[in-house]
This record gives sequence, structure tokens and C-alpha cells, in this order.
Amino acid sequence: PQTRFYHFTISKVQGAPDGVSKPMLVANGMSPGPTIEANQWDRIVVNVTNNLDTRTAIHWHGLYQNKTNYYDGTTGITECGIPPGQFLVYNFTLGEFYGTTWYHSHFSTQYTDGLTGALVIHPTDPAPKNIPKWDGEIMVQMTDVYHNFSQELLNAYLSPSGIDGTPGDEPVPDGGSLNGLGQYGGGGDYFNFTLEDDKTYRIRLVNSGSLAPIRFSIDYHPLTIIEVDGTFVKPYVVTGLTIAVAQRYSVLIHTNQTEGHGRYWMRTLLQSNMFTYVQPGQNVDIRGVLKYASGVKNQSLPSAGADPGVPSRKDIGDMDTASLVPAVVSRPPNPTRPYYVNFDFEDNANGVNLAYINGTSWTPLSGNTTLLKVRNAFLTSTTYAPVGGSVQPGDQFLLTEDSIQVVDLIIDNLDNGDHPFHLHGHTPWIMGVGTGRYQGQALNTANALRRDTMVIPADGYTVIRFITDNPGVWAFHCHLVWHMAAGLLMQINSLPTKTGQLDIPQVIIDQCNASA
Ligand code: C2O
Repeated sequence: PQTRFYHFTISKVQGAPDGVSKPMLVANGMSPGPTIEANQWDRIVVNVTNNLDTRTAIHWHGLYQNKTNYYDGTTGITECGIPPGQFLVYNFTLGEFYGTTWYHSHFSTQYTDGLTGALVIHPTDPAPKNIPKWDGEIMVQMTDVYHNFSQELLNAYLSPSGIDGTPGDEPVPDGGSLNGLGQYGGGGDYFNFTLEDDKTYRIRLVNSGSLAPIRFSIDYHPLTIIEVDGTFVKPYVVTGLTIAVAQRYSVLIHTNQTEGHGRYWMRTLLQSNMFTYVQPGQNVDIRGVLKYASGVKNQSLPSAGADPGVPSRKDIGDMDTASLVPAVVSRPPNPTRPYYVNFDFEDNANGVNLAYINGTSWTPLSGNTTLLKVRNAFLTSTTYAPVGGSVQPGDQFLLTEDSIQVVDLIIDNLDNGDHPFHLHGHTPWIMGVGTGRYQGQALNTANALRRDTMVIPADGYTVIRFITDNPGVWAFHCHLVWHMAAGLLMQINSLPTKTGQLDIPQVIIDQCNASA
């Protein structure tokens, strides 16, 4: 294994991803920030310097942080955020995780303003035999874009009148971008890819957005799905796929289409199912351009027109997990602990619409972290409530397991919207997804897909299974930034004794105690 060093300087700048000037938070002046590329088991060292006038924290989505829970980068849970003018060196090994993922600010809604980037981790073993080979790779990071600064949108969203007069209506994006470029009101630009003719390319797709699921397609090109959040799946050919916020896929394409004369639209279409009001001027049809090397002399854009689709191929939706079968059979172990949770949105006493998991709405601890509380309890040989094997509301909703268990987390979504949930530090098995409440419906015990971000359908349920063998405090939350800020987050504390013994760097404690 190698050690890979990076330096990120976080700053606030004026940018114009879709041609409209807006405030952005960026790493090294860029959004998306620098791509981190490494091999499985490598060590990653990132010195993050905060030049903002607020705190910040960077989370490495999907990584296990085994024995380094304190570098998970989650504000109020594993750190208090890097104060303005200070830095933190995140230093961790990748462990067994590989695949396509991303990093992003985990401080309030900061990543909405552009503080995201790609993480590509190559496996040390060859891909499973049933995965076709590819000649080259490209990265496509797609996101919804808000022209206003997210903190202002958040303040309006979490006010008694809400952003549009209805508390709970999420801020609706103005547009989007593909690798940092989008189009709006006749302005903006197109991200361009030039690929060699007659080759197979792996396209890594990341929805690094805040609210909208995004449908991805390339005119005339069938897409062969081979990876889902780091899990190789049996090749599955589609014409387009819808990717929920924080999910990733890899698709293979072959650059041998004869239609279109070597110039094609790459389409990222924001799905409007979460949009609760009309955003004037909004553009949901964001495009990039894919050119074959043979056609690159022709500088004009592909011709206008609707998506031609791919004959006899269907789409895959963001909840259609049944079509995605692990390439290597993954038989989950039998569960030893079932836990039941549900969530919903309600107005609080001040008329602010908040999210509640089993009755508790999360707010990040200020000047402290759950991790430090668990450690303090360990040092004073008390227990940080709630105690082992229980799941109950507390000042911080926390599921604690004090021995290695196979947990089934049964989640009922009592809300009428879809919610992409993410579990930190683990890749759970998706055991079952359905409509209505969970009442013992059959689970997929034969070959369950493992992925770290799963959509819990509106008025439906999802059952995930994971092993509590990774010491630390791990967030499990809705990845729609507005919902996380409204409290749609719970925490899982695996092995509190080992968590209490983690060697938390003094700088993280000092930064919690720092003013600002
Ligand atoms: Cu991608 Cu809690 O984060």
C-alpha cells in the first residue's frame, strides 16, 4: 500500500457554474474539488486548511474509517468542525472498501455550495470474471445548483413561514451542473469529453447534489451498469438510470455508434418529484457533450432534439434494486438484533417543520461531539445513555451495541416523500424495500445487494442489515441536505468500550474547545 498526500484549502469565492454568478465554497479554488484516486488499503493524508469565516469539516462518504472514527468528518458527531484559520490533517487507511465514491463537507448545508469531490478507489484484486473489461475511465459528477447561498436558503426553510409560505417545502434548485458546468437562461457552458473510437469506457457517476434525483443517459448509447456504490453487479443494460442524491454507479459504454456522427448529448435530467413549488427560470435539462476522436474536428454541438433513447432497452429507477444483482454472491449472515425505527416530519412548538426519528429530531452538539461523550463515559466508567442493545430517543438519538451483532434496522417512512439514507462506516445489505409498513415481508437472504445509500420509498419501508464490528459513532441519515439540517439523522454507536479507547487526536478536542 502507498500513502497519498493531498492539500485542500477551503475558501469562499464567486463562481458561475451555469453562467449565473453565485457564492461558492471550494477546495483549491475548484468545484468539484480535486479527485482523490488510490488503491484499496492505501493510506490517505489530507491536510484541510479552512479559509472560511465559519467552521468546516470534510467527510469521506462510504469509507469505513476502521479505528479512525474521529476522521469521519461529521460535525457534532466525530468532530466540531475546523475553526476559521485552522487546519486538520485527516489521516486514515482505506481498508477493504473500493469503488466510486466522493467526499463532501459535513458541516450544515455547506456541500450544496460546491464543497464536493470524487474519490476513486481501485481494488487490488481483478474485477469478478463476469464483469467486462474496459479501456479507459471518465468521471461524471452531477448536481443540482442553487443560485442563492445555502445558509440563506436553510434559514428560510427552517423558519415558521418556510421558504415559500409552507413550512417543510424544501428549497427548489435553479438548475444543475455536470463536472461543474451547466446551462441556464441561454448562458453557461457544456462539459466536453473526447473519447477514442471503438473502445469501452467506464463512466463513474456520482450524484453529489442536495435534493433532486438525476436521470443520466447518453444519446444512442446503451449503458451497462457494473457497479453500485462500490459493489460490482451483474452487467445490466439500460437506456438511462436515475440516481438518488449521494448514490454512485459505474456504466460501460462502447464508442462505436453510427448515428449522431461522433457527437452526442450526455444528459443529466433533474427529477422534479421532490420539488414542492415552481422555481421561475429553472433548467432541469443539464447537458454535457461526448465526442469521438474521429469527430472532434467538428466543433458544433450535437443537433437539438429529444433523447432518442436506445431501442428495446428500459430505464432503471432509483428504487429498482431488484434488477441489480451482486456479481459475486453475497449471502448476508443471520440477524441477531432487529431494531425498528420510523420517521416523519412535524411542526414543532415554534411552527418550524422538523424531521423526527422515533420522536427525536437531531441537532449537532455544539462545542462537543457524541464521540467525545462516549469517550468521557468510558473514562469515568459510566455509560453514555441510551445503554447497550437499546434504541430509544435521547438528547441524541443513538443505537448502542456493546458486542458484535448482526443488526437488522427496519425503517418505516411515514412521510410521503422518498428519502435517500446513508449509513456511515459500513456497506449494509439491502434486505427488503416495499410499500406500506414493514410487517414481516420476506427479505432477500440469498444474494442481497450491498450499498451505502438507499432510497426509503414514500410511505414505505426498507430493511438494512449490517455488522456492528467497526468501533465508533456512525451517522445514519437522509442525504437530502435540507432534511439532515431538519434533524433526519440518527447515530449508531458500535462497541462503546472500544470507541471509548479510540486514540482521538488532541487537535480534534482542542478544536471543539476553541471559540468561533
Ligand atoms: Cu455523504 Cu453523512 O454523508
